[in-house]
Amino acid sequence: MATSTATDTGRRTLWTGATLATLAGERDWGLVPEGALAVEDDRLAWVGPIAELPEGWRGADVEVIDLGGALVTPGLIDCHTHLVYGGERSAEFELRLQGATYEEIARAGGGIRSTVAATRRAGEDELHALAVPRARALMAEGLTTLEVKSGYGLSLEDEAKCLRAARRLGELGLSVRTTYLGAHALPPEYEGRQDDYVDAVCAWLPELMQQGLVDAVDAFCERIAFSPAQTRRVFESARTLGLPVKLHAEQLSDQDGAALAAEFGALSCDHLEYLSDAGIAAMAESGTVAVLLPGAFYFLRETKLPPIAALREAGVPIAIATDHNPGSSPGLSLLLMLNMACTFFRMTPEEALRGLTVNAARALGLPDRGRLAAGLRADFCVWDAAHPRELAYWFGRNPLRFAVAGGRSRMSVHQ
Ligand code: NIG
Ligand code: FE
Repeated sequence: MATSTATDTGRRTLWTGATLATLAGERDWGLVPEGALAVEDDRLAWVGPIAELPEGWRGADVEVIDLGGALVTPGLIDCHTHLVYGGERSAEFELRLQGATYEEIARAGGGIRSTVAATRRAGEDELHALAVPRARALMAEGLTTLEVKSGYGLSLEDEAKCLRAARRLGELGLSVRTTYLGAHALPPEYEGRQDDYVDAVCAWLPELMQQGLVDAVDAFCERIAFSPAQTRRVFESARTLGLPVKLHAEQLSDQDGAALAAEFGALSCDHLEYLSDAGIAAMAESGTVAVLLPGAFYFLRETKLPPIAALREAGVPIAIATDHNPGSSPGLSLLLMLNMACTFFRMTPEEALRGLTVNAARALGLPDRGRLAAGLRADFCVWDAAHPRELAYWFGRNPLRFAVAGGRSRMSVHQ
């Protein structure tokens, strides 16, 4: 397991006195009692039982930090958020509680469109300032990698503004990936010209990519959003530029979106309450991750469960995420997502934690994180817990002591 050599230079830290939940293998927690992590700069150089520590890590050049029996897991990854937006939608929440559906509100021009209006009014700095406390709330529960989608700007300038505001969140001490979701809703100026808008979404993509703002391309394939044929055009533009795709698929109805996304080798299909057997088979075939979103399931008071048993059976990797957004999931707790993945979706605590770590990394196309293993990024969380299942068990209690992101301790952020 050792990768360190005598020629190593740079910052070297040995974290000892930990129970590790490495999630390094295909199954089980990968528990290592009396474990240690050897970190060189931003990488894990060695992970294992302290009794097997390689010779090169016993020298005076190594800073040793004893964690006093804490639990260490991989850093948490939120692979699906809409974190950058203006305004809020509590009035819409009241309407839904009185019986209006999410779909009805959207058709009446509320929903995503109302957030678009508020987001367009705000400048980049204001949007960034609004997003900072949201990101910090997620970080306080162990977030080390965050995905943020655009989709509330819906013009070239406004989408770019949101993506730039999102990227700047990386200054807080976490990794940020940005996803272009121009095909989220039809902006009012394109009313009745949906195909023209799809043309515009495709035309903006090279420009946004050139500005270094796009890691992946997403779309909302739904009755109230874009058709499979329109989604296909967006995906074709992404493919031309070599960008990976993701899809908001089968959230409110079955549109065969998952099969379409799988055809493009999508990194992930997200939501999936109405996913069909054919969609599952297509995702299994293409290695596409199923990203389940318990926050949206809960907040929209959805009763149709995503087909978890069938996904599991087919060997589709399952991730979970907050889907933080002002309409369908205004929550900011990763730990509550773990809990709800178990209570609503009947995932095991281990499956749920894999969903916020190794499978979330996969949903973002980031094989360098999500597990504790030599060679990966030194992103990990230190918890006041004896066993990792506790992370899915408590709710409303945060056992995080601190997180380490890219080898750097964020202790000061939480104290
Ligand atoms: O993932 N489904 C589409 N997009 C978001 C909701 C956006 C909104 O309501 O503002 C989602 O649930
Ligand atoms: Fe979403």
